[in-house]
Amino acid sequence: MGVTEMTARPAAGASAAGAPPHPDESVGPLERGFAVLRALANAPGGRLRASELTRGTGLARSTVDRVATTLVELGALRAEGDGRELVLAPAAARLGGAYLRGSALPETLGPLARALAADLDESVSLAVADRDAVRFIVQVKRRRALSVAFRAGDALPAERCAPGALFAAGWQPADFEAWHTRLAADPSCAAFTALPRPGRDADPTPADPARVEPEFRARIARAAADGWAEDDQLIEQGLIAVAVPVPDPTGAVACVLSVVSHTSRQTVRSLTEAALPAMRACAARMTEALAAPTSPTPSPTPSPSPTLTSEPESDAQPPESPLDPTAAAKEQHGPGYLQSLARGISVLAALGGGGPAGMTLSEAAAATGLPRATARRALLTSARQGYVAADGPRFRALPRVLELGYARLSQLSLGELAQPHLAEVAAAVHESASMAVLDGADIRYVARAAAGRIMSMDIMVGTRFPAYATSMGRVLLADLPAEDRARRLEQADLIPLTPHTVTDRAALAHILDQTAAKHYALVDQELEEGLRSIAVPVHDPAGRAVAAVNVSLHAARTSPAQARAVVLPILRAAAARISADLALISDGAAGLGG
Ligand code: PHB
Repeated sequence: MGVTEMTARPAAGASAAGAPPHPDESVGPLERGFAVLRALANAPGGRLRASELTRGTGLARSTVDRVATTLVELGALRAEGDGRELVLAPAAARLGGAYLRGSALPETLGPLARALAADLDESVSLAVADRDAVRFIVQVKRRRALSVAFRAGDALPAERCAPGALFAAGWQPADFEAWHTRLAADPSCAAFTALPRPGRDADPTPADPARVEPEFRARIARAAADGWAEDDQLIEQGLIAVAVPVPDPTGAVACVLSVVSHTSRQTVRSLTEAALPAMRACAARMTEALAAPTSPTPSPTPSPSPTLTSEPESDAQPPESPLDPTAAAKEQHGPGYLQSLARGISVLAALGGGGPAGMTLSEAAAATGLPRATARRALLTSARQGYVAADGPRFRALPRVLELGYARLSQLSLGELAQPHLAEVAAAVHESASMAVLDGADIRYVARAAAGRIMSMDIMVGTRFPAYATSMGRVLLADLPAEDRARRLEQADLIPLTPHTVTDRAALAHILDQTAAKHYALVDQELEEGLRSIAVPVHDPAGRAVAAVNVSLHAARTSPAQARAVVLPILRAAAARISADLALISDGAAGLGG
């Protein structure tokens, strides 16, 4: 298909300004960036020291340092500890997002998957084919102690899960050949890092390569005949699943819908009987949803400027574009910054804005503000690495981009996401910064960065306070629809915690209205004497205040006016960064936070 074509011959126009550069010279940095992201995605906790990255990728230490500097600048990595430990950071999810947003599958089908999970009270997932692997794009989890829990972005070998048999029913001989080659090279599936590793809780029936093929073929034949497939503990003892295909309007399998359970609750048979009719109905609704005209959220695509469209395909340093943020970073970091890596990442990430049909070279160039030659090089490199497909003149991201860190990032809790930003706030204002969510009539702390001063209050993650008397509680209550707000206030016992606490319901209602209008709350010694606190909301992509962040201040050290003038802008900037991170990891996370 298109991918092979792309790798086999240079794209049209490549020779317009002389011979193209040798691919290894022109595309090296982007490939190295992918290698670093893959290594981190597969590392425990998504973190490695630079020395471990050097060993894991086989790259020179100086190369790892330059790749890391670039990815840190892009927000795809964070340097922690002494600066030598590298951690995956939310902007890396833009790459996985290029497929998820581009395909529009999570957006179109996620709500139906959630409804099915609620209806059956079981976990539900959607998976797509990724060559001979199966990659999850939506996971709706029920809160239960399942032994393994796969995440949006994780991949499984086709022969070890229910969706695999359904996808393989459509395989051509070349696909089986690729599958054989992989199995021969990696019989224990070590490359599938989401699989539980043999060890203490080892798979009771270690795969015997001679038996894998006939068993897989038998399951494929059954899946083709029945129109559904089962997983009876293929991955792990206890884990069972039933799967049905979701055809697109042309009849091709767009994705596979699975219901996952455990032998402590169901047998495969009882699960099939209980779930299959509802799953089939759901898959039919999904096919209808895929037939409906999609309205992909267009990225803010600027109209191509005449200089870009008429630019010759030269490999000279491209002109700086006001849209190209890599130019300023290059100026700042000099040779320590790999501009072609940064540009390649932005081209790949931008493909998500093109919807299911993808983007032409000109559209990708215009969306990133980069010259066509630069965009073409990034797309060719990405195609060679299996991250991009070319259908005629259009390029689209493939599910494999999800291996570049998406699974790990999609799993971050709100508190984990906020932590580095809270630490920055605490360092900037020399006071403690926290995040809390609303829980009934209380707020509950989910993250906190202490300021190194002795605190007058002992606050930890999990600590609860009455919402009405706290700044975070007030911004969260203020965001609620009137009825919900009133109900929570009715639940609350409005007791005066200090002489300053507002306990009059009408006065409180007025304060909440003002808070909603100003988008921040300042609470002055209403929770505790001597404690002042200022808070702003953190919004999810739908615009709801899902959490609040605050700074707590000693009344003696900071006046209300100083809090507004100095602390509020810093807090607002941090809340905006957290909201942006949240948007980056929300594409396939149907069970976000769950
Ligand atoms: C899952 O969604 O976690 C899942 C689905 C199908 C399987 C195994 C796991 O066969």
